[in-house]
Formats: sequence, C-alpha cells, structure tokens
Amino acid sequence: MNSSQAQFASPILTLTVNPALDISTSTDLVYSGHKLRCNGSHIAPGGGGANVARVLHRLGGHALALYTAGGTTGDTYRKLMEAEGIPALVATVDGDTRQDFTVDEASTGKQFRFVLRGAELHENEWRRFLELAKRSIRAGGYVVASGSLPPGVPDDFYARVARLARQADARCIVDTSGPALAEALAEGVFMVKPSRRELAELLGATLDSEESHINAISALLENGSAECVALTLAEAGAVVATKAGVIRLAVPSVQVVSTVGAGDSFLAAFVLRLAQGYPVNAALATAVASGSATVMTPATELCRPDDVARLEAEIVARAANPS
Ligand SMILES: Nc1ncnc2c1ncn2[C@@H]1O[C@H](COP(=O)(O)OP(=O)(O)OP(=O)(O)O)[C@@H](O)[C@H]1O
Ligand SMILES: [Mg+2]
Repeated sequence: MNSSQAQFASPILTLTVNPALDISTSTDLVYSGHKLRCNGSHIAPGGGGANVARVLHRLGGHALALYTAGGTTGDTYRKLMEAEGIPALVATVDGDTRQDFTVDEASTGKQFRFVLRGAELHENEWRRFLELAKRSIRAGGYVVASGSLPPGVPDDFYARVARLARQADARCIVDTSGPALAEALAEGVFMVKPSRRELAELLGATLDSEESHINAISALLENGSAECVALTLAEAGAVVATKAGVIRLAVPSVQVVSTVGAGDSFLAAFVLRLAQGYPVNAALATAVASGSATVMTPATELCRPDDVARLEAEIVARAANPS
C-alpha cells in the first residue's frame, strides 16, 4: 500500500449489535465429572463487526466500530477495544454483554466452543443503534454489518442497515446467517460474504462442486441481492463474483491451529483494500492471506500483520508464476 492510498481510503463503519467477550483457554483433555484444570486464559473483544475493525486496524487501516455494551462485561469489553486503539461509538444497553468460552483440548487438538445467547435488546435500544449507525454512515464509505443478531432484534435489522446505507450513498457489506442474511439479500446489499455452510443453508443446496459455487454466487448477482459475492470455502480458499466476472483463489500452505475469526479477518482485509481503491483481485489476495494467517494463531486470536504480508506475497508470487 502506498501512503496516498492509506490517506485517502474511504471511511469504514463496522456494526456489532451482538458483541461477546471471548474467553479462551486450553486443557489437556475435556471429560465430565471432574474439574478440568485449565492453562492460562486469554480474553478478547469479539463479535463479527468488532473483529473486522480490529483486523483492519492491525493491517494499518481505520474503521469506526459501533457496538453495544452493557453491565460489567460491557465495561471490560470497552476497555479491551480501547486498549487496541479502535475508534469506537458505544451504544450503552441494559443487558450484560455476553461471554463466549473456547477450550482447546491440548492432547487431541480439538476445540470446544461455548457460544452464549446474548441478553435481549429492547426495541428502543436497537432503534437507537440504527440511529447512531445512520448518523455515522458517510457518503462513499462502507458499512460492515457482521455477526448474529441478539434476541429481541428483528430479522430485517441488516436489511434496515442496507436501506440506510443506500440512502446515504454508502456501500453495505453483510456477513451473517439464517433469516437475517435472507432479509438483507432481499433488500439488496453491495457485498455479501457467506461461508459455504451459510450459503448452502440459505439456498437449501449442498454446494459440493466448483460449478455449484459459481452458479450460486452468480445467481445472487443476477437477482440483485448483491453487487459482489465473496464465498469463502475454508481450506479451499474463496471465490468472488462481480459483474466483471468470477475469480477463484486457493489458500497458501499454513499450519492450522484455530479457525476462529478466519472469516472476519478475510472480510476486514477485503474491505480495507476496496476502501483503499484496490481492484477486486488484489483485495481477494489480501483477504485470503488474512483469513489464512488467522488460522495459524491459537483460539480466538486474530491474524498477525507479518504473517498476512508474507502470505500475501506468496499468493501474489504464485499468481505471477503458476506451476
Ligand atoms: N483450514 C484452513 N486453512 C487455510 N486457510 C483457511 C482455513 N480455514 C479458513 N481459512 C481462511 O479463512 C477464510 C474464511 O474461512 P471460512 O470459509 O471458514 O469462513 P468463516 O466465515 O470463518 O466460516 P463460518 O462463518 O462458517 O464459521 C478462507 O477463505 C481462507 O482464506
Ligand atoms: Mg463467518
């Protein structure tokens, strides 16, 4: 990236309506009936939009993170975001910010993830969140709506965000699943980043071949659901469709430690590159590098910038000299 691209990057706003304090640890073996003595623990501010803002920041970009926070867990969450230097706009809510718990089983390499249900958001709270989003969306900028919705928030929440973005002449990017994803696509967004599992669930299809992937993402483009569809395929990389065509990219060879946060890292890098004015193929290279760099780090830890730069260089070199 050159400095003028960084300086003139379009503004990015990330939304996290269902954040979670991610607590992670490891133990030798998980079994029932006895106390499981754990090794050291790590705590991080998680949730889709927040992770996107954190990775963007690590990669030298800037995003404003709008998130809800409540109770003592919410206070800790804010402090952790502040400690990482993430510019934030906090919507204070009544319910406690939820916590997630991840345990790596050291003797087997298995991972156990306990995802707690968030506290219910009252109607006045989610409406206020939308109001704050509306005030923070910038014309020509990007709005990244990522993660699940907490109880109490209607399924069309991200569809409402997409409408606000369109009215403000901004681009809405959605990464979620189930009915919230379906409603956002029915409204129409700039970009969507489903994983294979999320897209298969949405379409009620298996998506087990390259042809099925390309057909599915092309259909979303043609019916106006999105202008850019990035389907991530875990260890098989990603495939992106825009009106300019379809591009596929394989992952570099990495040692897989924990896949948590891979999709958020992919999306952060992709948006950062678009906001800096890079073309889609360059954005995809940084995105795959960033997703793959995150699987090299333990538990909920996100990518290290050095790994991203190294993997990106590998991807670019491979594209220039395909063997
Ligand atoms: N096993 C892996 N090896 C190498 N890279 C991986 C692996 N898993 C994920 N990645 C990287 O992370 C990106 C996103 O992964 P994935 O498709 O699993 O999305 P996700 O959003 O994390 O999935 P989900 O939301 O369903 O949990 C991939 O495109 C790839 O770059
Ligand atoms: Mg995902």
